[in-house]
Amino acid sequence: MPMNIAIDGPVGAGKSSIADRVAKRLGILHLDTGAMYRAFGLYALRSGLDPQDEAAMTALIEQADVKAVLEDGEQRTLLFGEDVSGLIRTAEVSAAASAVSKWPAVRSSMVRAQQEMARQADMLIDGRDIGTRVLADSPCKIFLTASAEERARRRYEQQVAKGDMTPYEQVLADLNARDHQDMTRKTEPLRQAEDAVLLDSTNMTIDEVVDAIAAIAEDIYGKQ
Ligand code: DC
Repeated sequence: MPMNIAIDGPVGAGKSSIADRVAKRLGILHLDTGAMYRAFGLYALRSGLDPQDEAAMTALIEQADVKAVLEDGEQRTLLFGEDVSGLIRTAEVSAAASAVSKWPAVRSSMVRAQQEMARQADMLIDGRDIGTRVLADSPCKIFLTASAEERARRRYEQQVAKGDMTPYEQVLADLNARDHQDMTRKTEPLRQAEDAVLLDSTNMTIDEVVDAIAAIAEDIYGKQ
């Protein structure tokens, strides 16, 4: 049985860094699907189009070339072959990614590409619709969350460490806005799959969360 692990959760739950560590521990690949929506959001901005315009985004996804390349435990996200990994973490691209991700044509194109990758290797995938759609048949699904204040606090500290002095209140407001958009959109809103294990990391360290997810995966797939 191929090992496919789904991790979903809201903004700032720590999915990416935790998923990276769990995948390394289990010796499997990690696909960060948010990076693919971000690369397409960047493309929309570069094209001068409005990410909120469904018709424009539906036409644009047809001609977009977004790829995630997983090599040596690192993901490189490519837009028409250009490595845009370092350009997609800005607040502007975050907002564009959240906006473009509500359009059905964008979602089905991304989901198709992600399912194709999952068929080819043991993989841990993180995002918003992994347990409910991309890996709907996986026996191993985690829904990772934490309180909004704690998620905003973690994001704020990361940004301060990088020299970004956006006030905490602004970080919390942006996070709540993006959560709202991701949870209320019509197409595959962020929600916990019925068969996902809920992990609330508000009072857990990263090590504790990594241990808990690895233990769940080993329970299902056995020690690799
Ligand atoms: O995980 P992230 O913050 O990098 O994701 C960026 C945006 O992409 C997020 O606001 C919602 C969207 N997204 C999605 O709709 N489905 C996914 N599987 C992953 C991300």
